[in-house]
Amino acid sequence: MDLSDFNGEACSQRVECLGEGRSACVYAEGDRAVKYLMAVPYHDASALLRREAHYLSQLQSATLHVPQLHSVSEQGGSIKSLDRARGYVGSITMERIQGAAFLNHRDVHSWSPQDQQQAFQDVGSFMASIHKETPAAYSGEYSVLWNMLEEAQMYDPDRLRKSGFYNQLSQKLMSLEQGVDPVFCHGDLSFDNIAFNAGERKPEALIDFAYSGYGMPETDFRHFGALNKFLFEPIKGAYEAGSGRQLDEERLHMVDLVSTLRLLHTCRNMPAYPTQEREVQAMDGRVKRLSEGVFGIAYGGVNSDYGLHNY
Ligand SMILES: Nc1ncnc2c1ncn2[C@@H]1O[C@H](COP(=O)(O)OP(=O)(O)O)[C@@H](O)[C@H]1O
Ligand SMILES: [Mg+2]
Repeated sequence: MDLSDFNGEACSQRVECLGEGRSACVYAEGDRAVKYLMAVPYHDASALLRREAHYLSQLQSATLHVPQLHSVSEQGGSIKSLDRARGYVGSITMERIQGAAFLNHRDVHSWSPQDQQQAFQDVGSFMASIHKETPAAYSGEYSVLWNMLEEAQMYDPDRLRKSGFYNQLSQKLMSLEQGVDPVFCHGDLSFDNIAFNAGERKPEALIDFAYSGYGMPETDFRHFGALNKFLFEPIKGAYEAGSGRQLDEERLHMVDLVSTLRLLHTCRNMPAYPTQEREVQAMDGRVKRLSEGVFGIAYGGVNSDYGLHNY
């Protein structure tokens, strides 16, 4: 498919858009899906493209269902006539996952309480099976959280940098990661990256490996850190039963903190975000509470009674 000759209506008639994320557009091409990684100001899209292709190819022989990888192109260009008229850095052509639904948190939150709990429980079991995919070839190559912390440091509230906050955070992260056997982490695990079997609503396949890597298992809970107990308990229970591992409160705090800092960085640099002041303010407040949680535990437990899932 050559996108350079797309124009206006012809484009929308010819091309079925499967989805648009914050940094990618995915189009259908017969039984294939083509994911274009967009050049955006808040991260290195080429790195995302390469990482996604790398882990997708590593997982081709996994028991987990992931799209079959057909080809990768790093030749960027300009997608002229689509809404997001920006440059792209390259594309990945893969199997199109058919007959399954990609949900989002809003879809799930409109379900009955029982169905919601069931969905989170299913995701917990699914996550346990993802973490069993740790390839034998692991050689300490890439930690999801380290990379996020690196990006997060570009978010620069002076108070955090000057106070040595990031140094303390790096040291703490290092000691936490070294204390656990690393697993393969998806890195961006949320409902919209899981294909749910349409009939039974069970997780069936996994997509979107741009943030994948290794690290402590809690890494994959980064989109679930702010859940209330009603939904967190089912996902935690199913994960622990399926994986035989115990989730650790301090590591969950750390994941949530690094992930929130990184999101703040994105908000600063993404044109659509600065207008959403309230969301940014809420996250800022969260950073404070989470850092008290992590460092409270780290430095004598002054704030160690700070509980996760209570806000
Ligand atoms: N292989 C695929 N088959 C079917 N739909 C897909 C496929 N890959 C992506 N999609 C759709 O496109 C959306 C965005 O793709 P994704 O890889 O998650 O991009 P992003 O990195 O922007 O989140 C997905 O949520 C899904 O709805
Ligand atoms: Mg996605």
